[in-house]
Amino acid sequence: MCGIIGYVGDKEIVPVLLKGLHCLEYRGYDSAGIAIHEGYNLNIIKSIGKISKLEEVLKGKKRKESDRNNCGIGHTRWATHGEPSDINAHPHFDTDEKIAVVHNGIIRNYQEVKEKLISLGIKFKTQTDTEVIVQLISQNMKDSRSVLKAISKTITELDGSYAIAVLFKNEPDKIYAVRKEAPLVIGIGIGENYIASDSTTLSQFVDKVIRLKDNEITIISKNGVELYNLQEEKIKKESQIVAKTKDILDKKGFKHYLAKEINEQAEVVSNLLKDFLPNSKDPIQFNYLKLDPSFLKNLDRILILACGTAYHAGLVAKHVLETLTSIPTEVQFASEYLSSNAVLTNKSLVIGISQSGETADTLAAVKKAVSKGAKLLGVTNRADSEIANLAKDHLILSKAGVEVSVAATKTFMAQLLSLYLLAIYIAESTNQANKTTLTNLKQALRELPQLIDQTLLRAESYQEQIVQYADKPDFVFIGRGIGYPIALEAALKLKELSYIHASGYASGEMKHGPIAVLDPNVPVVSICIPGENYDRVIQNSLEAKSRSAPMIAVAVDGDKKADSIFNTVLHIPQIAEIVSPFLTVIPLQFLSYYIAEHLGRDVDQPRNLAKSVTVE
Ligand code: AGP
Repeated sequence: MCGIIGYVGDKEIVPVLLKGLHCLEYRGYDSAGIAIHEGYNLNIIKSIGKISKLEEVLKGKKRKESDRNNCGIGHTRWATHGEPSDINAHPHFDTDEKIAVVHNGIIRNYQEVKEKLISLGIKFKTQTDTEVIVQLISQNMKDSRSVLKAISKTITELDGSYAIAVLFKNEPDKIYAVRKEAPLVIGIGIGENYIASDSTTLSQFVDKVIRLKDNEITIISKNGVELYNLQEEKIKKESQIVAKTKDILDKKGFKHYLAKEINEQAEVVSNLLKDFLPNSKDPIQFNYLKLDPSFLKNLDRILILACGTAYHAGLVAKHVLETLTSIPTEVQFASEYLSSNAVLTNKSLVIGISQSGETADTLAAVKKAVSKGAKLLGVTNRADSEIANLAKDHLILSKAGVEVSVAATKTFMAQLLSLYLLAIYIAESTNQANKTTLTNLKQALRELPQLIDQTLLRAESYQEQIVQYADKPDFVFIGRGIGYPIALEAALKLKELSYIHASGYASGEMKHGPIAVLDPNVPVVSICIPGENYDRVIQNSLEAKSRSAPMIAVAVDGDKKADSIFNTVLHIPQIAEIVSPFLTVIPLQFLSYYIAEHLGRDVDQPRNLAKSVTVE
């Protein structure tokens, strides 16, 4: 994880680095730091905590006009090796303080390299794997004819995934950078150049970018960008226009990004429908999805690979795909798939779902699936991500816009809709579902923006109903069928936002063990939507009620039975069970949000988390 920014040009360096770091803070916020040239020195300023803490530290440090050199690198950290602390914060120096490095990723053989360097007399100050990189570069400088050679030699000695940016005291106008299996993009300006972990950050500064590939080394200076391969041969790459993402840090009047993003969900759905389902009579318009109908007709199975919230979207999709297409569909945590022996053939379709498109587990899992002959289809929110690159010909962009809050909300909604549309697309391409069923489903999807809007308007009343439960130490969420993944998603959201322990269960499973945890301090939240599963969920809820648990329901307007059974009912507009996840999740997002806010939690940046999880 971690975010990297680098700048060289005429602008004052510190504000540029800080702005870049703020845009990258979603990648980790355990500590932050910068390295800049000042006079003849290379200086590092860093601090445990968020970027706002680093800003405070920097305020106390005035730079002399004559010392100014506007070339520097910055880093925001999510700790992997070594606890969050000032000392483990990046950038890191070599022993002579002539080289400074920032790093995103992990060095798998760092212990080995460290021992070798220690045997040469090098003393380490930190517990990070990053310090190994800078010390190794320093060591390799001793017998290399150039800095470039020292870097390429270092790269060949490191095993891992990394994006690295390096400053050298003796080259005060240059930044060296390289990547392998971790994102790094060059931003091309006029009389200034940048590097960053993502192009969205660069879009705040420049119009053009160059995406680095694995093992490509770049040297950026004020007026130029040079690119080399590991053999130190110059290479050429065309720049691309970067999609402008304006004001990503604007909360638009909301107290938190999370509240803003929850409230954007009707718009997100409406935009996707405009592109892919402009009316319910025509087929889904995935014009750029080049899946051959004969391949789809002969599919032996679909395997969905994802993590966290994206995994929950996958579970909902399994339900819809099997209902509409009858193709056996399985969903696996990407991390678990890596340890499994699941059977895939060249008749299998693998769907990798990842908001960020950079999740290391998901990337490794889809690569493994492809190596077994399966075809990959990617669903992501980031057009410039690694998963988009891997799934080039079979890609669905979920187009939810930038999601700043670490907890996924609007991107979950966009994943759901993308996957419903995909299920209809496969059913249409293979003639597997009844036409009326498909038209009715498409019509129901087209009605969603209005229904979501109506649900969002109830936020205040949800808040009033929910905060009374904020002191409970444990929550249980239950659902059945298509409601079960939403129970899982609600439990995940409550845990990550409020730090309250919560579990999601298939409601029928409660009696097989989990019911033992119930008492008056453990609220049970049931998702009970009229349809196939309603009576059974009610039955399971009554069993929980008999164990004195406080009972909360998500139920539709006018559900008198729910009103009479539950202590609190979070009402949503009436909706068909098959599309109910789009609405049932909303009051549950609010439940987590309002409880977390009530408890004074850091809603947008919960402890220990990062939005883009780029380590396995
Ligand atoms: C969601 O609220 C989480 N922050 C997390 O579970 C996330 O969904 C997961 O890490 C997967 O991320 P991705 O979609 O970017 O791959």
